[in-house]
Amino acid sequence: MPITFQKENSLFRLTTKNTLYAFDIVKGKLIHRYYGKKAGAQVKTFAEEPGQVWSFAPYATEGEVYFSLDTQPLEYSYFGSGDFRTTALRIRNGAGNSVTGFDYVSHKIRKGRVEIPAIPCGRADDRTQTLDITLRDAASGCELHLYYTVFYDCDVISRYASVTNRSGGDVVIEKWMSLALDLPGHNYDLISLAGAHAYERIYNERTPVFRGNLSMHSRRGATSHQMNSFMAVCDRKADENHGDVYGFNFVYSGSFLNEVEGDPTGKTRVQMGLGDENFNYRLKDGETVFCPEAVMTYSPKGLGIMSRNFHRFANDHIVPAKAKERRPVVLNSWEAFYFNINEDVMVDFASAAADCGMDMVIMDDGWFGARVHDRAGLGDWYVNKNRFKEGLAPYVDRVKKTGVKFGIWVEPEMVNPDSDLFRAHPEWCIRCPERPMSYSRSQYVLDMANPAVIEYLKEMFTETFRDVPIDYFKWDMNRHISEPGSLYLDAEDQGSMEYRYMQGVYSLFRWFMETYPDAMIENCSGGGGRYDLAMMAISSQIWTSDNTNARDRTLIQYSSMLAYPASVMSCHVSNPHGDMHELDLKYKVAVNGVLGYEFNVLDTPDEVKDEIRRQVKEYRTFDLVITDGEYYRLSSPYESDISAYYFQLGDQILLSAILTNGHAVTGRKKECKKLAVRTADPAATYRDTRSGMVVTGDELRRGIEIGAFSPDGSGWDAKLWYFVKE
Ligand code: GLA
Repeated sequence: MPITFQKENSLFRLTTKNTLYAFDIVKGKLIHRYYGKKAGAQVKTFAEEPGQVWSFAPYATEGEVYFSLDTQPLEYSYFGSGDFRTTALRIRNGAGNSVTGFDYVSHKIRKGRVEIPAIPCGRADDRTQTLDITLRDAASGCELHLYYTVFYDCDVISRYASVTNRSGGDVVIEKWMSLALDLPGHNYDLISLAGAHAYERIYNERTPVFRGNLSMHSRRGATSHQMNSFMAVCDRKADENHGDVYGFNFVYSGSFLNEVEGDPTGKTRVQMGLGDENFNYRLKDGETVFCPEAVMTYSPKGLGIMSRNFHRFANDHIVPAKAKERRPVVLNSWEAFYFNINEDVMVDFASAAADCGMDMVIMDDGWFGARVHDRAGLGDWYVNKNRFKEGLAPYVDRVKKTGVKFGIWVEPEMVNPDSDLFRAHPEWCIRCPERPMSYSRSQYVLDMANPAVIEYLKEMFTETFRDVPIDYFKWDMNRHISEPGSLYLDAEDQGSMEYRYMQGVYSLFRWFMETYPDAMIENCSGGGGRYDLAMMAISSQIWTSDNTNARDRTLIQYSSMLAYPASVMSCHVSNPHGDMHELDLKYKVAVNGVLGYEFNVLDTPDEVKDEIRRQVKEYRTFDLVITDGEYYRLSSPYESDISAYYFQLGDQILLSAILTNGHAVTGRKKECKKLAVRTADPAATYRDTRSGMVVTGDELRRGIEIGAFSPDGSGWDAKLWYFVKE
């Protein structure tokens, strides 16, 4: 049984394949006991290790000075009840104060999981179990459920919660963390993934934890390019294969807050949850609301295991099962033509895609309304008849006759002020009536918290896509939320707008999935601005970044894979300008994920087309090793001149080394001359199908020489080996 409760000492034990998580109930409070390796774990209960006395630490019962919420390692903590650390839950009650404090009432161990209304979460399998703990706050009249869901095989445990108001009046949830964990000691580093548009997750930063609060967040109403929701807390000396590592991530696409705080008693509090700057959720009497799911994993041996656990979790419990069908190699029109598309160009483009052996052509922005540049048309989802004279259906018919599938770009959450939609419904934007609205990419955000907006979009898309056989939607989102207000919501509900906005977005995604069951969705937000587990649960893959420069992509993809699998990482080869070396380099970087192309292959020399044809054919021989295999990092582009890694699926190993010419090193210059495939079968012989080289598994384990790089002297080059067991 993954979850057990020992009555004699009130101890919960949650086990995964390799990890154990334990806490006990003491005086109605949940006290954290252990998170780590299952084998040989020594869990001490409160009775065995009650903690020590600290001055200035409040306690509830006279004489029990050692039992203070300020100094105990807690499972979940509440504002104002004597814990002065950063807390997980703050509810303003009917009396107007925000003091919060819940006590254990009962628990249930359930098969499967508890679904979170309108927010994506991990999919249960036969072994999934959930611990559901009921707590009560007598003073505020609220009931709290803390949920722990165990995803056994991938060593992941998730945390989420619900609050029900039984106070007889309104309460307001002011801060809400999905996950809280008190770790022993301070001796950790925090790893976070910051970035910017076109540089998503590129700052793979490592910061020492100290006696103070480190917070990482998005206040943008979207996960954001600027900070990803993933974080890891690890031993100071932890590396790829050594040291304790705790990994965390949030299954949500809106504003979030991650906190790591060293406390005065020598512990470290880790929290992950809803961003609190614009979160004030008015909960009416009798209502229940859930916070999103946060996931955690533990590795006793470095970052590699953490990443593989998260990859397995995403592949088996997040990404829709349907997405596992072979992902198409696409040719996208954006970097080829930008807004200058029309029917004839796109049909020729589709023929070229077919000629190069690709599976699908994607018609990106520019096909609808007055959208001939980025200042008009968003919101008017009807085909531009000047460009597609007979309408969408006959045009898509012509595309399909060339032998490829058809995909189309949409940006449902947005509106240009220069659009019929905005002229008809200015009140449908996110806005505060007393203030002007800020522009970003000449557009405004629609109020997805308003059901009328969602209904309008459904009707519009139904009409436009009637009888059009679409195989793929690229769902974009090209600005963040400013002036966060909704003309639809009551004044008291304004603080829940961003949360309701996300619920509206997720419901429209679900509608697309149900209405077009044969189509896949590629998620995009100006590249990888919503590169998160919730988006991965409702789309097949994500456009990783608008930046297709091979050098920057090497870093972006390397960091993205700390937390997310290659199967969702959409990677396009952009224009190599006829340079065969660049084409080769871009291809070898792009095969780190789901391969596609994005440039005008119509005016490309034949030798480039021939090479693309060869690349697509080759990719098809090993794409499953990338999307379904296990991933091992060998050399970090942040620490050496070489980025190296391999994927392994059974008897197949795809090994890559990319020379990055010191592009973004941190100063820790490590030498990388040999690549050791430590998981190769020592008794086997492998053949590199690209060069014909034959090596023993033992040699692979000891390491093969990388050899000379950079035939063109540019300092940029890549090598690829595809080993198959003989
Ligand atoms: C965003 C996307 C691009 C492209 C453009 C179209 O920037 O990331 O890939 O779709 O929008 O306007």
